[in-house]
Amino acid sequence: MTIVAHEPEARPTRRPAALREIRVALLGLGQVGSALAELSSTTTQGALTGRFRLTAALVRDPHKPRRVDTTPLTLLTDGKAALASTPDVVVEVLGGIEPARTLVLAALDAGIPVVTANKTLLAYCGTELAARASAAGVPFLYEASVLAGVPFLGALQRRPLAGAVTSLRGIVNGTSNYVLSRIAHDRIDFAEALAAAQRAGYAEADPAKDVDGDDAVEKLCVLLRQFAGFDVHPSQIEKAGIGSVEPGDQEHAAAFGGCIRPLVAADWPDGRLTAYAGPAYIDGAHAFSRVDGVQNAVALTTRWSGELLFSGPGAGPVVTAATVLDDVVEAVESGGHERGAPATPVEVDALDAAPWFLRLTAAALGEHDAPALLSTLGVRLRRASHIDARGGHHSQRLLTHPCARAHIDAALDVLAAKTGSRSWRIPVVE
Ligand SMILES: NC(=O)c1ccc[n+]([C@@H]2O[C@H](COP(=O)([O-])OP(=O)(O)OC[C@H]3O[C@@H](n4cnc5c(N)ncnc54)[C@H](OP(=O)(O)O)[C@@H]3O)[C@@H](O)[C@H]2O)c1
Repeated sequence: MTIVAHEPEARPTRRPAALREIRVALLGLGQVGSALAELSSTTTQGALTGRFRLTAALVRDPHKPRRVDTTPLTLLTDGKAALASTPDVVVEVLGGIEPARTLVLAALDAGIPVVTANKTLLAYCGTELAARASAAGVPFLYEASVLAGVPFLGALQRRPLAGAVTSLRGIVNGTSNYVLSRIAHDRIDFAEALAAAQRAGYAEADPAKDVDGDDAVEKLCVLLRQFAGFDVHPSQIEKAGIGSVEPGDQEHAAAFGGCIRPLVAADWPDGRLTAYAGPAYIDGAHAFSRVDGVQNAVALTTRWSGELLFSGPGAGPVVTAATVLDDVVEAVESGGHERGAPATPVEVDALDAAPWFLRLTAAALGEHDAPALLSTLGVRLRRASHIDARGGHHSQRLLTHPCARAHIDAALDVLAAKTGSRSWRIPVVE
């Protein structure tokens, strides 16, 4: 056998095709819009440098001092003029419903792809906007609207078997998670923890939407439309704010091996939807017990692919701008991804059966009073704390086994009548 050695042929070097410039009309030049303006001109990815041209930026006040250099930008106060700047893609980062809705519809009708990070717009008008985009055959992408730094919506949209979801759990509001984490770790109360979040720049001057649960509800509506095909209005979802969580709750939750976190939860195994947004006790073995501070996470239970967990930064101007710019490229290069059938309206029930974390408060409470009474009423307990005597009253925390909501509420009513106790209950995630 003759072996002929020869020089391997030099492989032709692959030169990336010259990337076409993408013209972007920016609706909004606030936190996200400014970060996007900076990132689009200074991106470290060589391939992207200079790729984006901002054709116009819509603002309310063109004379306001801004943290970005606005000299190369055309600032406009007229949305229609911004759309007329012949962009390839419109990026909507105004926030709220109007004028965002009208401008997004106008862009889609004109055949211009739209990228938005606006969960409020999506929660209230998502079905209408998706239908209009679909009718016009125009990409409409919103990856940054939930878990802004974690690109999972589009990935699962392109993978319908992996994305066949039957229930979800999430920590989707970084401000609330930061506040509850500080209460747990630093034993400070809600007001101090919220002030710390504001000092750190995590909470708005008016943090009501975050701590009252509205922001989480809006994100849950986006997730339900995406993964279940349900058109759910935010007012349909049972919601509780985190302002009711006391330092003692976190202390006893830790003694039980868990913690309290801001949760969104929804189940629709047989098409009947139950949903909740508010504080929940998270068992120490659950991955969410390690999602701390401003981190976010979503766990999806899927029909074929088991449990999928996504976690990472949920917000932040730069993180959000990066995800938005990736959507812009996707809208232009792959034409966005196919959306499924239009979302359908559905009834939403409150969570009806769960283990519960209870706080009972009364002027005087014996250690065994509530556990004994609850047990005679058929509520099985896993854990009971010692009695906490603070602020002139007694309180006790309990962890139950799974118990129907009607059952636990009836039992707590009996307890209130017999002991004068007030109760607070949140669901348990394990
Ligand atoms: N911030 C984040 O980390 C983050 C993360 C994920 C998603 N998002 C979403 O991204 C969107 C933008 O958030 P942001 O934090 O950037 O908000 P922002 O700082 O309040 O910026 C809003 C921008 O929109 C402009 N604007 C608002 N209403 C307008 C109107 N009627 N006409 C013309 N311009 C108007 C404002 O103009 P002026 O500057 O002249 O006032 C401002 O430039 C929101 O939907 C938000 O939920 C934000």
